[in-house]
Amino acid sequence: MLPQEIIRRKRDRQELTNEEICFFIKGITDGSIADCQIGSFTMAAFLNGLSAEETASLTLAMRDSGEILKWSKLDAPIVDKHSSGGVGDKISLMLAPMLAAAGVYVPMISGRGLGHTGGTSDKLDSIPGYNTQPSRDLFFQTVKDVGCAIIGQTGNLAPADKKIYAIRDVSATVESIPLITASILSKKLAAGLDNLIMDVKFGNGAFMEDIDTAQELARSIVDVAKLAGTQAKALLTDMNQVLGTTVGNAVEVKEAVDYLKGSYRDIRLHNITLNLASELLVMSKCFDNINDARGNLIKILDSGKALEVFAHMIANLGGPADFIEKTDKYLPQAAIIKPVFPLCAGYVESMNTRNIGLSIIGLKGGRTTPEQKLDYASGYTSFCQIGDYVDEQTPIAFVHAANEEDYNFAADELQRNIITSIDKPKLLPPIFKTME
Ligand code: URA
Repeated sequence: MLPQEIIRRKRDRQELTNEEICFFIKGITDGSIADCQIGSFTMAAFLNGLSAEETASLTLAMRDSGEILKWSKLDAPIVDKHSSGGVGDKISLMLAPMLAAAGVYVPMISGRGLGHTGGTSDKLDSIPGYNTQPSRDLFFQTVKDVGCAIIGQTGNLAPADKKIYAIRDVSATVESIPLITASILSKKLAAGLDNLIMDVKFGNGAFMEDIDTAQELARSIVDVAKLAGTQAKALLTDMNQVLGTTVGNAVEVKEAVDYLKGSYRDIRLHNITLNLASELLVMSKCFDNINDARGNLIKILDSGKALEVFAHMIANLGGPADFIEKTDKYLPQAAIIKPVFPLCAGYVESMNTRNIGLSIIGLKGGRTTPEQKLDYASGYTSFCQIGDYVDEQTPIAFVHAANEEDYNFAADELQRNIITSIDKPKLLPPIFKTME
């Protein structure tokens, strides 16, 4: 078989066989297929689509490109949540310790930033010493001792996805249902989960803008997961505005710490986090219904147990033992932190969330090439929400930037991409529906 012939067949809209897909993925994993061929393949798949069979073959081949974890020695369900990608989405940072404190295990393999969306492993990389690429033993030990470990894709977990993901990020081949399905599930299936909850986002900051396409993605993920023996459900959640009050790497870690401490919990962020976690606890048979699970999670948050687990996880994975007490001392701080005011006073009616996510790349908090080093300190805080009143004294956000030029760029982006109106807009619920 020749890689270029497989690419040609997909380019010409033909259906690939399982053997061809396995051959291609094996070549990506052993390095015999070049980056330009991976980029061509993803573009052909992006433009011409993959059938349900091709998607399942791709997912399983990518899962099998590395090690598949086994957790037989653990005495509680192994669960995880994954997001299809959003702007300001720091849910994983809070949800993993909350679930671990509730008694299930969460071995979370997270991704780097992708396209205009942020990545959990980049956020954690802003914590000095935190190792998002631990050895297999340290990862296992942390999950066993702490209950959760959030890491990046290590060399031997779905390595084919790691390679394809980095190329998709910079080749405009992200927003594809089959490629997203295979990317998410290959990692999750390799992590040896019992139950998976998917946060499938729709709206102008999601990869799938309209609800119908988001539902299609949710259906594709739930079906392929089931085929591979993992129980999965999906929540469809609104991404027509940034999630929470921060966007960026270090600033999102800080918001997660504040959330776990209880010093500030953005209401939409809180709602989605609680619902995703509750669904997993019910799927894992820890509770009979969502309300009981939710009540228990609130108690766990209020008791400080989830914060304790988070602190423990950070220390176990090489971060500072007193990170929670001295978060501001450890997280990198931008040279410039200044407010941005709206062009017209009024209620925030809408925002172009995708452009706001892209502006983080302009601030070097996301990548334009796979190897790029990030500026972890850059980003936005006190970000307005739809329905908030803003004026010349009430900022739309604070920009954290490395220099004046970057501040001016970001201020301009925010002013152009946040629309105000004199009427208070109707607010959308954060969760649209649950899909089994
Ligand atoms: N998250 C992933 O891991 N992969 C995608 O393709 C999109 C979101």
